[in-house]
Amino acid sequence: MCAGSRAGPRSWPGCCDWTRRQGSCLVCAAWLHDIGYAPLLAGRPAFHPVDGARFLRRFGAPAPLYRLVARHSGAAVEAAVRGRSADLAEFPAVAGVICDALTAVDMQTSPNGRPVSVRARVAEILTRYPQGHPVHTAVSRSAPHLAAAVARTTARIHGSDDE
Ligand SMILES: [Fe+2]
Repeated sequence: MCAGSRAGPRSWPGCCDWTRRQGSCLVCAAWLHDIGYAPLLAGRPAFHPVDGARFLRRFGAPAPLYRLVARHSGAAVEAAVRGRSADLAEFPAVAGVICDALTAVDMQTSPNGRPVSVRARVAEILTRYPQGHPVHTAVSRSAPHLAAAVARTTARIHGSDDE
């Protein structure tokens, strides 16, 4: 549910005006980005960014929100590894700043919700998924991009962004 929304799912369109409330969409996406892991939502074959985005789109979520979910944390690289780029293409990329911020929060939070460095997060993922697994391959390839998104977001937060 979008931050600040108390009325439930029927309030989606009104709760997330992209021009005024990117922060709310970011919070929503941070909560919902892995919803596609829910067994009832998994497609065949499963690919959680797209499965989650398709569910949210069907549920009436705003396009910026489900596009963020589809594109979170190196999803494009994993889609290429899994041969699912055509499915991901249903969801155009979102502006870099907000997508970087979602990647930053995802890649600096451990599976049990504790703050971690992006280096530790990547190492944990590479340990959890064996070599040869699509996630291991994708995260190995996208790690520099994930770290760069974290660095850009950190710079923006601290006002040292040159963009
Ligand atoms: Fe994810």
